[in-house]
Amino acid sequence: MFPESFAADALLSFSRPNDYVLDPFVGRGTTIFQASLLGRRGLGIDINPVAVCISGAKVNPPELTTLLSRIKSLERSFGGCDSGSVEALPDFFSHCFHRETLMQLLYLRTNLLWMTDPADRFIMALVLGLLHGESSRSARYFSNQMPRTISTKPNYSIRWWNERGLLPPKRDVFPILFEDAKWRYSCGTASTHSSVKHGDARRTSELFSGFKNQVGLVITSPPYLDVTDYAEDQWLRLWMLGGPVSPSRGIYGDDRYRDINRYWSFLEEVWSGCLPMMKADSRFVIRIGGKLSGEELRCGLIDSFERAGFTVIDAKLTSTTDVVRRETSRLRRSKNRNVEHDFVIRVA
Ligand SMILES: C[S@@+](CC[C@H](N)C(=O)[O-])C[C@H]1O[C@@H](n2cnc3c(N)ncnc32)[C@H](O)[C@@H]1O
Repeated sequence: MFPESFAADALLSFSRPNDYVLDPFVGRGTTIFQASLLGRRGLGIDINPVAVCISGAKVNPPELTTLLSRIKSLERSFGGCDSGSVEALPDFFSHCFHRETLMQLLYLRTNLLWMTDPADRFIMALVLGLLHGESSRSARYFSNQMPRTISTKPNYSIRWWNERGLLPPKRDVFPILFEDAKWRYSCGTASTHSSVKHGDARRTSELFSGFKNQVGLVITSPPYLDVTDYAEDQWLRLWMLGGPVSPSRGIYGDDRYRDINRYWSFLEEVWSGCLPMMKADSRFVIRIGGKLSGEELRCGLIDSFERAGFTVIDAKLTSTTDVVRRETSRLRRSKNRNVEHDFVIRVA
């Protein structure tokens, strides 16, 4: 995870206007959004639909008038949903959401065409942002009291709410979305030439097959070794996008983020997936944290690039920063100091 300034600094140092910039682990879309603001063209990939929805909405926002009228029309056509679909959900849902709020969410879950329609994607991204959070502090969140960053597990959540006598708040979803949309646009949006694809970073050049030898800069933050399970941590948002009604591990289907050898082979495959898209002399600006030391990471990265078919001209560890508090829980399994390392790798 990195802040806007990390992406902006790298873009200004290593690219020019109209250049293509790639992020194969696009997450919330920091790289491609900053690329757009600075007149570059961002290409992003993520395996997690939550990331694809949020970053896609950021770089391809609809006109505000289109967005607001779509929210109004959804509100008009909402006639409740059949109570059977509410009853069919596990107990967690009635503890987490007020019945009427849940009906509205179920309606949006079925009717928003977020994968294909930019206005629906933007609305879905707003829903994902408001789906859960500290609802005692802000009347915008739809859920019972929950962290905003990760979705807590069902049994733990129910116990926690019961111990404190917390009931889900009644929220009218449509007016909240309407106001949130207006507020987001008042902060500015980027109308851009960036794009996002849903898929595995190892298939980068297939997913962006029209961009051979066109990318001179990659700015990215791969998953950290042994740190988190993005699917499990975001399970409620994944449900909202059509996923299962309970947390599931391993959206990626193997243990590549737990075993060090598999981790490096995975990154090697990612770099070789990028290779056909890269120009002759290009740079990878990479932030990685977790339990490996800066030097272990530097050597591992050089190795993985070489094995992927690149020639490494230069590999610098440019800085090491303490992880901010928000990230600490993700690093809970680490015995080492919680830090993130930044690298600039120049390859041919
Ligand atoms: C550390 S986060 C990136 C954060 C991003 N730089 C940001 O600022 O939001 C790593 C991302 O990699 C994604 N990811 C994990 N495995 C992947 C894979 N095989 N292919 C594509 N994306 C993957 C995760 O879903 C997650 O969004």
